[in-house]
Amino acid sequence: MRILGLGYLGVNAESLSDWLDFGPNLLGLQAVDKTGKTLAFRMDDRRQRLHVEENGRTSMEYFGWEVRDSAALHAFAAHLEGHGYHVIYGERWLADQRCVTELVWLLDPAGNRVELFHGAEIAAAPFVPGRNIGGFRTGAMGLGHAVLTCEKMSDLLPFYTEILGFGVSDYVLEPFKAYFLHVNPRHHSLALVETGQRGVHHLMMELMHFDDIGHAYDLAHQRGDEIGVTLGRHSNDHMTSFYTHSPSKFMIEYGWGGREIDPNDWQPFELTEGPSIWGHNRSWLSDEANEVAHAMLRRNADAGLRRPVNVMPGNHRQMSANCGWWDSLVRNGR
Ligand SMILES: [Fe+2]
Repeated sequence: MRILGLGYLGVNAESLSDWLDFGPNLLGLQAVDKTGKTLAFRMDDRRQRLHVEENGRTSMEYFGWEVRDSAALHAFAAHLEGHGYHVIYGERWLADQRCVTELVWLLDPAGNRVELFHGAEIAAAPFVPGRNIGGFRTGAMGLGHAVLTCEKMSDLLPFYTEILGFGVSDYVLEPFKAYFLHVNPRHHSLALVETGQRGVHHLMMELMHFDDIGHAYDLAHQRGDEIGVTLGRHSNDHMTSFYTHSPSKFMIEYGWGGREIDPNDWQPFELTEGPSIWGHNRSWLSDEANEVAHAMLRRNADAGLRRPVNVMPGNHRQMSANCGWWDSLVRNGR
């Protein structure tokens, strides 16, 4: 009984037309199944990954976590009920709306709607991206990661780690608390940040190709979309990414090259390098906070903080080194 990945998300919106532009034209999502008040997006072979509802609200409405089968779903439901959680068994119409075989749902201790499901429908037709991208990295890694803000870490963290079985990848204790949690080899499928306020900070989508990030960065600038976080590379999951504001207020992190971890052989540790190896200037920081962030980046530069890029078959070409100095560094493990 374990969670396999982040399978789908429900998004609230003030206007579907904003998402109909932002989703396909910037992110490359495929818009499908539009009704007067709802809109579904595909990002791979599944029939639906994001479901947007125009309801005058913003942020996210629900988070769909995938389990293997009906037995795992019912085992989780019994486990949650045994810990005093009120679990609701989703009716057929709800499973149909989510495009899954079966689901249950409950509220986490902060009031976020957590859905557990199995049996995601595969679409009959191939995925056709909304713009010319080389696809999203999903599959066994789930659709990406979500980062939630919370009032108090101690209210929420035990639910995900002790009750749902998420593993801690790493954590930050100063100047604020943040925990990065995994359920599969993706470094984190969920992160919790203690800000004093419950909310959704961002949703990360990972692209197969590095240049698709660059194209989106150009497009976001040309479209006048607000860049929340400039291009940079994260120190823990090694993602090269930028963040833009979605029509539902939370940000979208658009990234490439996230690392994989082995969940069966991983020891959590405190991150002390700051959130990023380089870049990722955040638009909302005060001058004082910016100075702290810039000092961390200077420290990383002075220390020569570097991490190998994480590539997959088909999205890179290996070069011959042909340089004695480099060869000697590699031989010596540097
Ligand atoms: Fe992220």
